[in-house]
Amino acid sequence: MSVLTRRRLLRRAALSATAATAARVSVRAAAGAAAAAPLLAACDAETDPDRRDAAEDPAADPERRLGLRFPDGFRWGAATSAYQIEGAAKEDGRGASIWDTFSHTPGRTRNGDTGDVAADHYHRYPADLDLMKDLGLRTYRFSISWPRVQADGTGKANQRGLDFYRRLVDGLHERGIEPMATLFHWDLPQALQDTGGWESRDVAYRFGDYAAAVFDALGAAVPVWLTINEPKTVVQNGYIGGHHAPGHRDPSAAYLVAHHLQLAHGLAVRALRAATGKPRIGPALNLHPCYPADGSPEAAAASTLYDGYENRLYLDSILRGAYPQDVLDDLGPDSRLVRGIHDGDLAVIASPVDLVAVQYYTPYYVRGDGETEMRWPASEAFWQQIYPDGLYDMLTRITRDYGRIPLTITENGLPCPDKLADDGTVDDPGRVDFLRDHFAAAHRAIAAGVPLESYHVWSLMDNFEWAEGFDQRWGLVYVDYATQRRILKRSAHWYRGVIRDNTV
Ligand code: FCB
Repeated sequence: MSVLTRRRLLRRAALSATAATAARVSVRAAAGAAAAAPLLAACDAETDPDRRDAAEDPAADPERRLGLRFPDGFRWGAATSAYQIEGAAKEDGRGASIWDTFSHTPGRTRNGDTGDVAADHYHRYPADLDLMKDLGLRTYRFSISWPRVQADGTGKANQRGLDFYRRLVDGLHERGIEPMATLFHWDLPQALQDTGGWESRDVAYRFGDYAAAVFDALGAAVPVWLTINEPKTVVQNGYIGGHHAPGHRDPSAAYLVAHHLQLAHGLAVRALRAATGKPRIGPALNLHPCYPADGSPEAAAASTLYDGYENRLYLDSILRGAYPQDVLDDLGPDSRLVRGIHDGDLAVIASPVDLVAVQYYTPYYVRGDGETEMRWPASEAFWQQIYPDGLYDMLTRITRDYGRIPLTITENGLPCPDKLADDGTVDDPGRVDFLRDHFAAAHRAIAAGVPLESYHVWSLMDNFEWAEGFDQRWGLVYVDYATQRRILKRSAHWYRGVIRDNTV
């Protein structure tokens, strides 16, 4: 493993150990106050003095639309995931997942928060469906909880778990909203973790069986399926940084995990083809444009390798049937990834997909020494730089490098310090600014020839943000956790207008 890789891994581990707040403060300082102006200011009303200036600046009018019309048939939506909203952790035969274990381990999540109740969506889904209809959503992306369908990750499917998703899917259809389901959004059955988790090749085959059971029950009712949410985050946060379940810090295991997650993806694609020919399927990848931090050849080389780990490790395997050689060379021939590849694995991983789901949050600026720098204002999530052009760059790059495969955006959004005001409103102008600028970047990408068909804001509603617990609010809809009341934020009202007019 190269020096660069080792540095990268150590840095990630260090980042995860850093208190988020402290990191956020230093990151903001690095971003520079001037560059931060309207977006950051609007998003952090309490602490940033620029907030007042932004409020007085007519160009920062949060209701402003740009007059950019999207193609007819473009579908606007929102996304969630099972563990983050459902709650009902022990109901109807649901087994434990690694996130139940992790969140119940002292010190792992902020304030010791867990997804036991979360937004109680399991019980409140009819009202949530009405809310989606009220917003005008055309598509809704949710995930299926593996331990609801197979409590221990194997064997006969639990009908009560499947029934919940059947009711949800039917409810979406009744309201004219297209369901988009993710098979796996990180909540691995704990029983499978106990047999080795994603380090075990067998778990990929268990996932293929689980996918087949889900397709059997729901396959034809869901027009678009996504396999594994952000395999990279499992690799980096679950197995290198250790700040996500299962909380390991083992870089050598991490890239074997990357391989098994992708094998599982390919097995699920094949299971869908075997079950029914009709619905479409693809991976859900968080992709980060990587730019050299300066003009030096060292920064160019380091940024290219960084891109390999962040993007090509997942895109090349699925869309070209080969892992990127520079990453394989960097990991070395004795790495567990290289030794873990069996004959035929890449053919499974590269089973043809119908679309690629892109999740975009932040770019990286890579220095010659392999470290990254902040360039743009950060959000409440210390790792997120607000840079809408990065979305344009990533979308156009996929089309340029991998051809005209249909794309959907399945996550994009930011956390804001939203508060429920005395008059019952939640004012989040920073989120409106953020969404408008990112929608405009997507519009430019479409104009440049990118076959982008839909856009899902992360997230429909505030939810359990993993290690950050309930502190970070990412929703269009505010959740008052004490009462479970839902309140449309200003951004939700604004988004409803965008959807109605198909115009940003
Ligand atoms: C993504 C996750 C999603 C949510 C957002 C903020 O990486 O897929 O569940 O946590 O980040």
